[in-house]
Amino acid sequence: MRSLVFGGTGMLGQAVVAEARSRGWAALGLSRAQADIADVAHCERLLGWADSFHPELVVNCAAFTKVDACETERTQAFAVNGEAVAHAAAVAARAAAPFVHVSTDYVFDGTAGVPYGEDAPTAPLSVYGRSKLAGESHALAYDRSLVVRTSWLFGPGGPNFVATMVDLIEAGRVPLRVVRDQEGCPTYAPFLARALLDLAQGGVTGIVHYRNREPVSWYAFAAEIARLWSGAVEVVPVATAEFPRPAPRPAYSVLDVRRFERSAGRPVEPWEWGLVETLAHLRRLRQDRELRKGRRG
Ligand SMILES: NC(=O)c1ccc[n+]([C@@H]2O[C@H](COP(=O)([O-])OP(=O)(O)OC[C@H]3O[C@@H](n4cnc5c(N)ncnc54)[C@H](OP(=O)(O)O)[C@@H]3O)[C@@H](O)[C@H]2O)c1
Repeated sequence: MRSLVFGGTGMLGQAVVAEARSRGWAALGLSRAQADIADVAHCERLLGWADSFHPELVVNCAAFTKVDACETERTQAFAVNGEAVAHAAAVAARAAAPFVHVSTDYVFDGTAGVPYGEDAPTAPLSVYGRSKLAGESHALAYDRSLVVRTSWLFGPGGPNFVATMVDLIEAGRVPLRVVRDQEGCPTYAPFLARALLDLAQGGVTGIVHYRNREPVSWYAFAAEIARLWSGAVEVVPVATAEFPRPAPRPAYSVLDVRRFERSAGRPVEPWEWGLVETLAHLRRLRQDRELRKGRRG
């Protein structure tokens, strides 16, 4: 399946390209410099990717993902996470290919207390969430679109919570102080990539929720990261109110994945599997860095 991936240099984009290639598919991951989906002036050039690459699948992993920055850069947030999704979908439509778009648990307000189904009412708390919700509408205007909402992404190839915790530990900024009153589900980017391509291959359209299991607080997730990384690091639970941030986060953002499990015919994976792989990757990076430093010294 010839696959075109917008945002192909981001954390998820790289995982999607790798997953597609591991299936023997031709996959082209485009950086923002190669294909800026928010640049209206270059829409024709964007459509040119459909004419030159002839994709059988278009996946949009491009997004403005700095949740707090979105609060002050509202125009940019809506341009990239909202309107630009229509441009990406237009490339798929031009090629008559299915379009897969990635959205977020932040379209919900986090007050439900039970896992959010695909039809649950949306009520984003932040500009990021509102801009992603706008993007969903643009995607779904094309009848061959699949919108996959996910949460708490981590993995190799991008800044994320796991890498941040490891950096703090290595910098000696311990004990770690981490919020205990936000609950969600970490999701390993390579597992999500596999899910996206399985769903696309199965011809699924509409909205589907995907995340890994089981729900945890950021505190419990950090405690597991610290335990696996170095055993002896203290992690202190704190309240969200002690960590005021520009964008409010949902307190509870567990997505109901039954539609995914029915469609894919398998359960979602435990996040612990992805955490072990991510930490091994971060250890290798650090060892390589040390080796290079040693050679120079
Ligand atoms: N990270 C999470 O915790 C999380 C949770 C739920 C949902 N999601 C969603 O999952 C998807 C992938 O997230 P991620 O964590 O992989 O994000 P990421 O690592 O920040 O990657 C996003 C990519 O989009 C590119 N991009 C930004 N603006 C663009 C534009 N105008 N045109 C083309 N490319 C552009 C970025 O390029 P530059 O680096 O050059 O700017 C980057 O390569 C996003 O839709 C995000 O909203 C993420």
